[in-house]
Amino acid sequence: MELANLRQQVEEVAVRLRSKLQQVSNPADLEAFRVEFLGRKGRIAGMFKLLGALPQEERSQAGELLNELKASAQRLFEEREREGSRNAATERLARESIDMTLPGEGRPIGHLHLLTQVQHEIETIFLHMGFDVASGPEIETDYYNFEALNIPADHPARDDWDTFYIDDTHLLRPHTSPVQIRVMENSAPPVRIVCPGRCYRRDTQDATHSPVFFQVELLWVEEGLTLANLRYIIGLFVHEFFGPGYDVRLSGDFFPFTEPSVQLHMREPGADKWLEIGGAGMVDPAVLANVGYDPETITGFAFGFGIERMAMLKYGIGDIRTFLANDLRFIRQF
Ligand code: DAH
Repeated sequence: MELANLRQQVEEVAVRLRSKLQQVSNPADLEAFRVEFLGRKGRIAGMFKLLGALPQEERSQAGELLNELKASAQRLFEEREREGSRNAATERLARESIDMTLPGEGRPIGHLHLLTQVQHEIETIFLHMGFDVASGPEIETDYYNFEALNIPADHPARDDWDTFYIDDTHLLRPHTSPVQIRVMENSAPPVRIVCPGRCYRRDTQDATHSPVFFQVELLWVEEGLTLANLRYIIGLFVHEFFGPGYDVRLSGDFFPFTEPSVQLHMREPGADKWLEIGGAGMVDPAVLANVGYDPETITGFAFGFGIERMAMLKYGIGDIRTFLANDLRFIRQF
């Protein structure tokens, strides 16, 4: 073994080392590179073992050569390692960066149907006046829907509330008035409630009729109430719901559960025409007696109106069928 020989080997390894390094493309390659050249049993370590075979006087020069080779291999390895982690970081940044200018992924959010909004608005107005919100079943019995409301079997007034029957005694309620009875049966006066809810009638659909619709029932029962109190409350409601300047008018009507019975009208500021907004009246003494109240001392008034009608008047909607037609172009307007 001679120095010249070793020098040649060093050069070969240096060339091989560079070409190997060029092929490194991932951390595993780089580790293989380290093991091959810089490992404890690697090429360079192997060459150090040859030093002993050299003549004494050539050993230090040879040692220097090997040290240089080892140092340059180490430097190349470290450079490459740094570069690798820089690339990995850049890659990760590129992968994880967020483009804040891209439009977001929109999730369409629905909203309450106009009828529900109007129902809530009506409830809120009456809650502020001290009324509670009550409800009753949509499948009602003949007793609550008719008998207790002073509409006996075979009475011609039943025709006005003709409806769908489940069996001989159960029916789909055609109005919310039966809720009056259910609440009064379970509470002592004073009673102040509004009862919103779905109703059904055997009506053929047209612009103003629907077999399914919504009503609100209002009931105030206490000693000493008169029609004047009813008129005042309705005036207040119209003011709150439609706005200031409306007139309210009562005219005669008939309902079996009220005496006297009235029809309520309102008139827009500056308009000539009176618009009907619902039926009302003083609760009939027979109805008060049916729920166990003393009609000699207890008085009350009631009012029933359609939620669709209120919404139609307020928002200028011309056809009741639009509410349940499920046309998003209509629904999204409100
Ligand atoms: N229940 C009646 C209907 O559906 C409306 C009504 C009239 C309700 C007079 C009342 C009332 O409370 O007093 O036609």
